[in-house]
Amino acid sequence: MADPVSIAVTGAAGQIGYALLFRIASGAMLGNDQPIEIKLLEIPPAMDALRGVVMEIEDCAFPLVRNVVMTDQPEAAFEGVDIAMLVGSRPRGPGMERNDLLEANGAIFTAQGKALNDHAAKDVKVLVVGNPANTNCLIAQRNAPDLDPANFSAMTKLDHNRAIAQLSQKVDGAVEDIKGLAIWGNHSSTMFPDLLGATVNGKPALDAVSQSWYEDEYIPAIQQRGAAIISARGSSSAASAANAAVEHVREWVAGTEDVTSMGIYSNGQYGIQEGLIFSYPVTVSGGTCSVEENRVLNAFAQSKIEATEAELIEERDAVAHLL
Ligand code: NAD
Ligand code: LMR
Repeated sequence: MADPVSIAVTGAAGQIGYALLFRIASGAMLGNDQPIEIKLLEIPPAMDALRGVVMEIEDCAFPLVRNVVMTDQPEAAFEGVDIAMLVGSRPRGPGMERNDLLEANGAIFTAQGKALNDHAAKDVKVLVVGNPANTNCLIAQRNAPDLDPANFSAMTKLDHNRAIAQLSQKVDGAVEDIKGLAIWGNHSSTMFPDLLGATVNGKPALDAVSQSWYEDEYIPAIQQRGAAIISARGSSSAASAANAAVEHVREWVAGTEDVTSMGIYSNGQYGIQEGLIFSYPVTVSGGTCSVEENRVLNAFAQSKIEATEAELIEERDAVAHLL
């Protein structure tokens, strides 16, 4: 068997953590023949709860789990890790936008960026889930100057999955018949779910639905899905977020079959300001993410992409003191 891969998960005693850790430990993320070590980071008041979660991991007797570490020190959590899943941060409540969390959560990612810089493996893959995910990711990345910016990503896979699921319901088609769909921009209510390049059973998705449904129902529904879940459940999505995090890392490591959506460091592709963490249509091969080129965008799509870019610029400027 291969050497263990070392994975850090922050916020490990939280809702997403509880839905995530058992999937990782079972092999759903890195495969059934890949042993793992898991390093769990929490804040001191949550250490008792974390101990309970670790007892439950032990009680599953997962064959792939070689070691579990619990700590409240980012430096220890990130020591030598190959993958870091940054979940730990406050979720929003009803009536809040995700960027209302900027002040509360931004500081967490300064400290964690520095700790990743000094302690993680140089080729560590960092996934930021904690909201506002793109800008938290930017904060972590900018506080880790010795790491390649391409090591950092923010999660828009949940939005991607939501967009596929809702389109498949509308066209009464199978999820696997939908290809080429992508989420652009921020994981927020300005994100742009792009059906222009999407197909259903090989035919243009926009031939299967009306433009008014696309613009007036579908796009707002995807943008507001997180809020709808908070309103229905009383707390934010957890199992679907954990599932998306597992898929995001799996694709980053093993490669993509179809285009996916990931918030990654912009090198200026499609005219987006360089250095923003921007969700693009992405393919992955050999652990390297590439933005899909030559995607056809009309004036409507361009205006949506510009709006979500503008929001990310605003968020970046609001946390300038943390960068
Ligand atoms: P939660 O409150 O249940 O759990 C968060 C955990 O993080 C808590 O156990 C808390 O003690 C811990 N924590 C807080 N500060 C920490 C720190 N400095 N270091 C380590 N741990 C810390 O919340 P949740 O439902 O698990 O959600 C976590 C985050 O994920 C929220 O910000 C939420 O908005 C976000 N989220 C993102 C997506 C996405 O698609 N990107 C989807 C769902 C939720
Ligand atoms: C989601 O999209 O479900 C999460 O980002 C939680 C939220 O605040 O919407």
